[in-house]
Amino acid sequence: MKFKHLALLSIAMVGFSTPLLATSSFEFATSASADKKSHVVFINDVNNLDGISQILDQGSVEHLSKLIELNKFSAEKGNTLHLQMIGAAESLLLVGTYDKDGLSAPELQDLGGKIASSLNSTKDMLDIAVHVQNLETTEALPSAHIAYGYHLRHYSFDRYKTKKSEGKSDVLLVTGSADDAANAANLYHSDLAFIAQGVHLTRDLATEPGKNMYPQAFVDVVKAKFKGIKNVDIDVLDMRDIKKLKMGALEGVGLGSINDPRLLVINYRGSQKADAPIALVGKGITFDTGGISIKPNTGMWAMKSDLSGAAAVAGTLYASAQRGENINLIGFMPLAENMPSQDAIRPGDVLETMKGVSIEVISTDAEGRLILADAVYYAQQKYKPKMLLNIATLTGSAGRALGDEYAAVITRDFELSQQMMDVGERSGELVWPLPLHANHFKQIESPIADIKNSGAGNPGASIGAAVVATFIDEDLPWVHLDIASVDWLEADIDVAPKGSQGWGVRFMDQLVRDYAK
Ligand code: BES
Ligand code: MN
Ligand code: ZN
Repeated sequence: MKFKHLALLSIAMVGFSTPLLATSSFEFATSASADKKSHVVFINDVNNLDGISQILDQGSVEHLSKLIELNKFSAEKGNTLHLQMIGAAESLLLVGTYDKDGLSAPELQDLGGKIASSLNSTKDMLDIAVHVQNLETTEALPSAHIAYGYHLRHYSFDRYKTKKSEGKSDVLLVTGSADDAANAANLYHSDLAFIAQGVHLTRDLATEPGKNMYPQAFVDVVKAKFKGIKNVDIDVLDMRDIKKLKMGALEGVGLGSINDPRLLVINYRGSQKADAPIALVGKGITFDTGGISIKPNTGMWAMKSDLSGAAAVAGTLYASAQRGENINLIGFMPLAENMPSQDAIRPGDVLETMKGVSIEVISTDAEGRLILADAVYYAQQKYKPKMLLNIATLTGSAGRALGDEYAAVITRDFELSQQMMDVGERSGELVWPLPLHANHFKQIESPIADIKNSGAGNPGASIGAAVVATFIDEDLPWVHLDIASVDWLEADIDVAPKGSQGWGVRFMDQLVRDYAK
């Protein structure tokens, strides 16, 4: 059985018509035709070549086993060796797969990403057969997860390059049985591919420079992307609505910019029942200068990605709605640009929120918690969700505590944090708990307003969470994710090139699946 799929990496940016040209397509079958240029073969034990690698070894007067020895290649999971002219194969990539517990879904996805990067998928024209037989794995359909990982990694943002990357990949996953081929094709094309597209959407939004990605531009991209998807309603609150609803914190953060704030709501009703929805709320600061509490210039350019949380919410909704997940899910994306100007809020100003809690602004650079305050309150008041997750590039402090590998998770209930660690392990995006203590609320008491937006200092991530928590019903299951360091990396990882990671789509997608069960 053959399935053809073309995944365009571009999105229809309003006002930008040049599509990105790096494309990939994935097919699943039980054998590969002889004219495939590149072959990828998994090696679990260098001393016991089996399947395709054994055939290639025998067809090459044992050149393969000799080259493995000469290059000291070991079958340790993730090792690669790229060879040429082995038997009938012009190009042969060996990938080690040895793992004492068997390969999990995220590990298979990592291998797929490793293949894409080892073969330079966004630069070259590739025609590849990946031989997925005899893998030791805990997953029923490893080839689908390898395709998904390849798709995740096959990304480049070259809108502003004169020379676009024209890398094109035709990837054939060769499975052991016809049933496996059909089932894996189905899993990839009607499910996992949409997560990868959601991740790429998130990366596009977070990489686009702030000059073009202001609040209404974000709305326009999302509207274009969701056009025609079933059971989705998009609601956009503009400055008039924001004022009418008395969202003084969201309004206040947006005051310094000529680009007005918005609150974007994507409502997906996929459940058969009239279930209470899950609410996902993402910080969407389209550029964070710090405002009047202006940031130093070093690294400030990267604050174009301060909308990563909102972008991940959009990406997650995209994946769920496209595959038709059996769940009610609402995404809330407060969008504002944090600029210094004569109209901007000042340190010391007091803002009135929709909830009626007043906030003294100690630092205009602690703006994320301000826009989240109004958004999470609105989400609860209007839509009565059964759980609420918010995701934000909120504090440098979370990054200093946890580095590049773990996002910070903060809850009112440690068991929920532990559940989130488990969701992370299964999704490939890890989280680690930070505390929320009564003293953190003490630190945001204000002498002139109900609370203030930052405390004396440590622990910064928890204090930021305490401000948001003030606007969350104590009985509502609530998850706070601080992604300030994981959303943007300075070096490649298996499933993503450096830069925007689209972090959170895979995590939230796994959470959605768990709730839909
Ligand atoms: N967007 C930043 C957090 C951030 C920092 C994200 C570095 C990614 C990389 C946030 O708005 C911010 O400025 N936070 C301040 C809070 C402080 C003023 C209480 C911070 O972390 O320094
Ligand atoms: Mn800030
Ligand atoms: Zn910010």
